[in-house]
Amino acid sequence: MIDPVARIMVDFVQMKAFADAPFIIDHAEGIYLYDTNGKQYIDGLAGVFVVSVGHRNTDVLESIIDQMQKLTFAPPLASANIPAIKLAERLCQMMPPQFNRVKFASGGSEAVETAIKMALQYHKQNGQPERYKIIGTYGSYHGGTLGALSASGVSSRRASFEPLMGGMIHVHPPNFNHCPLRLEARQCETSCVLQFEEAIRREGPETVAAVIVEPVMNVEGLVFPPPGYFQTLRQICDRYGALLIYDEIITGFGRTGTLFFAEQTGAWPDLLCVGKGMSGGYAPLAATIVADKVAQTFWGEPEDRVQYNGGHTFAGNPLACAAGLAVLDYIEQRDVLAHVRQVGPYLGQKLRALQDGCDAIVDVRGLGLWWGVEFKPDNPTGRPDDDVGKRLERAARARGLVLRGAPTMVSFGPPLTITRDEIDEMVNRLALAISDVLGT
Ligand SMILES: Cc1ncc(COP(=O)(O)O)c(C=O)c1O
Repeated sequence: MIDPVARIMVDFVQMKAFADAPFIIDHAEGIYLYDTNGKQYIDGLAGVFVVSVGHRNTDVLESIIDQMQKLTFAPPLASANIPAIKLAERLCQMMPPQFNRVKFASGGSEAVETAIKMALQYHKQNGQPERYKIIGTYGSYHGGTLGALSASGVSSRRASFEPLMGGMIHVHPPNFNHCPLRLEARQCETSCVLQFEEAIRREGPETVAAVIVEPVMNVEGLVFPPPGYFQTLRQICDRYGALLIYDEIITGFGRTGTLFFAEQTGAWPDLLCVGKGMSGGYAPLAATIVADKVAQTFWGEPEDRVQYNGGHTFAGNPLACAAGLAVLDYIEQRDVLAHVRQVGPYLGQKLRALQDGCDAIVDVRGLGLWWGVEFKPDNPTGRPDDDVGKRLERAARARGLVLRGAPTMVSFGPPLTITRDEIDEMVNRLALAISDVLGT
């Protein structure tokens, strides 16, 4: 007899270990999750950077219920629907004037996949079919589908499926903790970004379709590129005719204090991928937002046959788009971005205060409502689940806090609606978990 929970294959988690100690969420409210035993947790990660406007947000629920009464599905091959049209309009109004087209998707991987495929078709239709290579960075994660995973540079996630797609090149990320030249930030601000130019030149510019970056890197360890990185990258792409793709699946929709992180980079991409917080988790929703330069390639008479040749059944679904609209309304009406800019530094300050009493903490970094605490490497047994970050993740869970545990790091990305009092409570629970694991 199979334990019912063991029938579920949980992402990236050893099934047996999960079934032995399952975490089954029953319901949620605001920043709190409740498991099937009634235990309460602070959702310090907003699901996975998804629940931007909190759980059981009644404004969003009402909009979805309203839409449910009208239309829940419209055939994507032959039709559009009102929420999708309105959402595309709203998104384009919030971006610089060169962005006027949106291709909806149901998840971040699909949005990245779309960006890659659009880049390939763009060059084919512009007389350069030999441009097929995509250059990304080691340490980036762009999704689990084959194309998005091939563009990703996290070997542990790629290995089981290699050799993956051909034509995917990786350069070193702007992470000074792992600089191959052992440079420090003060010695160097440009070598990482200049690697893109070197890779394009050595691969042959006429073979490169696009460059893809995660503007703030998550799996790599909450890595922020140095000032000027994106402007230089934009110039390099323009110089060699490669398209630039930003994967803003995490950074989009307010996580770093602006609607898109691109607003803070001084350079906009040609294709911008968003997902996660876009629907607040109320429905699967993502999008690739397309600059005119790319979009015009797909605009023509039927006999021109220049339409974008990709699509997904549930993309642009009316319920999901109604959720996206309601989330945008909520962000605007409650000035959630201003709130993130106020309480984000407060969270940073509280985490830095923990560093004072704990030698094991080597860095606290973040922006908006995305913060990480880095610890000295510490693994008593050498088993991957005994890394300090993993032990802290388990201890925090026991203390009623869900966070992201990486080998030497824990990170937070709570709902953007979190209050100062709730931040206090969250950091208190982290302090207890640190004390449980490290005794400090
Ligand atoms: C930066 C980034 N891009 C893309 C994805 C893929 O999104 P999804 O899991 O919704 O397919 C993720 C997922 O974690 C992500 O963090």
